Amino acid sequence: MIRGIKGVKDLLPAEALRWRHIEDAARRWAGLYGYQEIRLPIFESTELFARSIGATTDIVEKEMYTFADRDGSSLTLRPEGTAGAVRAYIEHNLAASPLPQKLFYLGPMFRHERPQAGRLRQFHQFGVEFFGVSSAEADVEVMALLWRFFTSLYLPHLTLELNTLGELADRPRYKSILRDFLLTRSARLCGNCLRRIETNPLRVLDCKVPECREASTDAPQIVDYISTPAQEHFASVQRGLAALDIPYQLNPRLVRGLDYYTLTTFEVTSTHLGAQNAVGAGGRYDGLIEVLGGDATPAIGFAVGLERVALLTAETATTAEVPRLYLAAFGPLAMSLGLPLIDELRSAGIPTDMDYRATTLKGHLRQADRLRCRFALILGEDEVGRGTAILRDMQTKEQTDVPLASAIEHVKARFLPIEK
Ligand code: HAM
Repeated sequence: MIRGIKGVKDLLPAEALRWRHIEDAARRWAGLYGYQEIRLPIFESTELFARSIGATTDIVEKEMYTFADRDGSSLTLRPEGTAGAVRAYIEHNLAASPLPQKLFYLGPMFRHERPQAGRLRQFHQFGVEFFGVSSAEADVEVMALLWRFFTSLYLPHLTLELNTLGELADRPRYKSILRDFLLTRSARLCGNCLRRIETNPLRVLDCKVPECREASTDAPQIVDYISTPAQEHFASVQRGLAALDIPYQLNPRLVRGLDYYTLTTFEVTSTHLGAQNAVGAGGRYDGLIEVLGGDATPAIGFAVGLERVALLTAETATTAEVPRLYLAAFGPLAMSLGLPLIDELRSAGIPTDMDYRATTLKGHLRQADRLRCRFALILGEDEVGRGTAILRDMQTKEQTDVPLASAIEHVKARFLPIEK
């Protein structure tokens, strides 16, 4: 038997339904904040990712699915969405349309990481990218969108962690100060960190090895070495979050695993996720568009890991499933009315199901439970004779008679129709 690939998951119907709900919520929230969808290719030239994410990051050094095309050129399955969004923004001259441009995307990403709960090799992101505004209000708005999206899904125990990396010009001085400090701790650092001291010292702050974390607890913090405008930007971001009542925690170690960030970086973590605790993350990347050949343009965005959101929604009290109606029609007369009725219900956007094999009320209700339908509309011969149907709440078992002629209206009052 041929099995699926390690770290690449199938989504069976129950889970796919939960994902639909999450993706629908993502689209709704993105729309509410003025983002438009962009659909980007799954693979791009390798150079795009190397140049944007950074040649010395884990992603580029060891996690990309890179392969030679038939003409020998190097291609890579996208490990994230920002690089492709920026490439498309430049290539299609989106800057020529009025700025700001706000784009969102949903789709699979690929990283060759060690698979574990919440970490896959093919995973999915909902991401947003906001081009053209440098002021702190844009940062606040992007984080507010992320936070509101998560809280609308009732994700448990979330923390918004916040840091600043200063402007690009602040980086060399801090890097050299940090490098000097890390050299004094080199005996206590892991092999990976020792290598990073020279290539990418900021990443040492992000190392998960307990000894490395211990050794770098009193490392100099970037916030003390950034320009005055960068400090003012950071203060405005914090004031904005406070004004919206969005709780956050400063985390001076939050340096992120991609090199394109400047100023604000953030991550939302949940204590319910184990080691892979970031549900979503992002930051400002004011230098990236220029690096990839466009005009200097400020930008900020985030991406959410949908597998992690799905893990968390599986835990929350609200079942993320679309509530469904079960039509329990039995007896020849009721069946002849039931078939057009189920068609009408579905056309009205009410997800409705029925098991045509069931011939008794008991059999129907058992199926309604098995399908976890929230309500059942019961239509037997007696009901048809009375011109009514019975609407049964499958959880409370409460039943109400509804006139057959207005059954759809009654059902609609209890269901949010699926948008057409
Ligand atoms: P990232 O932190 O690499 O940022 O990924 C964002 C989110 O994707 C993570 O917080 C996590 O939830 C999810 N994720 C990452 N790797 C995996 C994996 N192997 N399995 C499951 N989930 C994963 C970015 O990708 C940036 N492009 C975000 C961004 C957009 N920054 C600015 N704009």
